[in-house]
Amino acid sequence: MLQSQYEIVVLICTLVSFIRTGIGGRTSTYIRSEWPSSDMPLHNDVFAVPKGHNAPQQVHITQGDYDGKAVIISWVTPNGVGSSQVLYGTLDQKNGFSAQGTVTNYTFYNYSSGFIHHCLIDGLEYGTKYYYKIGEDKAAREFWFVTPPKIDPDAPYTFGIIGDLGQTYNSFSTLEHYMQSGGQTVLFLGDLSYADRYEHNNIGIRWDSWGRFIERSAAYQPWIWSAGNHEIEYMPHIGEDFPFKSYLHRFHTPYMASNSSNPLWYAVRRASAHIIVLSSYSSFVKYSPQWMWLREELKRVNRSETPWLIVVMHVPLYNSDQVHYMEGEGMRAVFESWFVQSKADFIFAGHVHAYERSYRISNIYYNVSTGDRYPVPDKSAPVYLTVGDGGNQEGLAGRFWDPQPEYSAFREASYGHSTLEIKNRTHAFYHWNRNDDGKKVPTDDVIFHNQYWASNLRRRRLKKNHSKVEGE
Ligand SMILES: [Fe+2]
Repeated sequence: MLQSQYEIVVLICTLVSFIRTGIGGRTSTYIRSEWPSSDMPLHNDVFAVPKGHNAPQQVHITQGDYDGKAVIISWVTPNGVGSSQVLYGTLDQKNGFSAQGTVTNYTFYNYSSGFIHHCLIDGLEYGTKYYYKIGEDKAAREFWFVTPPKIDPDAPYTFGIIGDLGQTYNSFSTLEHYMQSGGQTVLFLGDLSYADRYEHNNIGIRWDSWGRFIERSAAYQPWIWSAGNHEIEYMPHIGEDFPFKSYLHRFHTPYMASNSSNPLWYAVRRASAHIIVLSSYSSFVKYSPQWMWLREELKRVNRSETPWLIVVMHVPLYNSDQVHYMEGEGMRAVFESWFVQSKADFIFAGHVHAYERSYRISNIYYNVSTGDRYPVPDKSAPVYLTVGDGGNQEGLAGRFWDPQPEYSAFREASYGHSTLEIKNRTHAFYHWNRNDDGKKVPTDDVIFHNQYWASNLRRRRLKKNHSKVEGE
């Protein structure tokens, strides 16, 4: 008797779960085995200081112009000002060119930063491997990077997407897995080092350790930066009340190339993508500088040249996790209609320490008086992707709203990163890759059709060749 009651309960549960799955998206049942979310100790090898007196450390690069023919190279010399010169060239002409950078430093409480160098090298050729050398004498160090292909609607290119990385053992796993993925440029979704979780001088020290941690990737390929709440560091109790002080000194962006007045929001074009970076923690209300800039930048988007329109920000506009729920509602109310009208392809965000992908939905007819306030299916809407699962010391956000909202296609609270493999103007392969205790496991795979070229005949031809397509 007991056995049959049990079977009935199991049957009902199975039916309920089937019905739920049939209605909307899927909540992964994968339960991640617990890993410590503690930061790696400073003596860990991943934070090793390079050998040589005043050797450059924390080397990272980012795109330096609008179209990908320039690079900003940044590094820190810890013991003295040193040289801000970069020697660079192709394999045939190594060190054949030189550029002079600038140097800065800052204090944070009683911490004094090393000397932070930023050097723009421009006039580069597309699709070319460049070697660059920084530092002096025996402490000089050499790295390389590959410039993107010329701006072209069918230029294939692979972006990695990482958010909320921090510097734990899980962060290390995420970065290692990303580096095996074949990604050519990182779109970083804000919350870099989590140094602000420390106190006093350790804040600066943990920015330095994070810079050494990411160098293994960021010195060799651009990371396109956006800022999160952990970059704000508004700490008047210790006399630090200039927001984003550490971040702005350490990480430069090519904001002026897109006519932005602020390094926290800007745009770059790369291969076949137009990438817009927004600041969740700067004003975006109507007539604010960010609002006015975005209105103009969207007019500059040319889908015949760059078919893929990608927006990057820190706080998600759609997410069904109980943590940080609806914190993006202000920006959604202001910008969502623009994203729909401009047929943006993807809105990437972090902040919530889990993974989630939405269906194409919009809520642009919201009216506080009529009660018309629900997201509805909308083919012109972007897909919203939360990839805040880099693996920082705050751990995972595993409490999803139940039942899963209809706008939510897939969600899972595990650490990982995403890759977006743009194939041509019509198709992109997208993967969310879970860090599965040492192995990279692709978990959410989707073939996306470009929003602008979606009605193209070519799309319909290509569609026949793919079994799994978006929305299934
Ligand atoms: Fe955040």
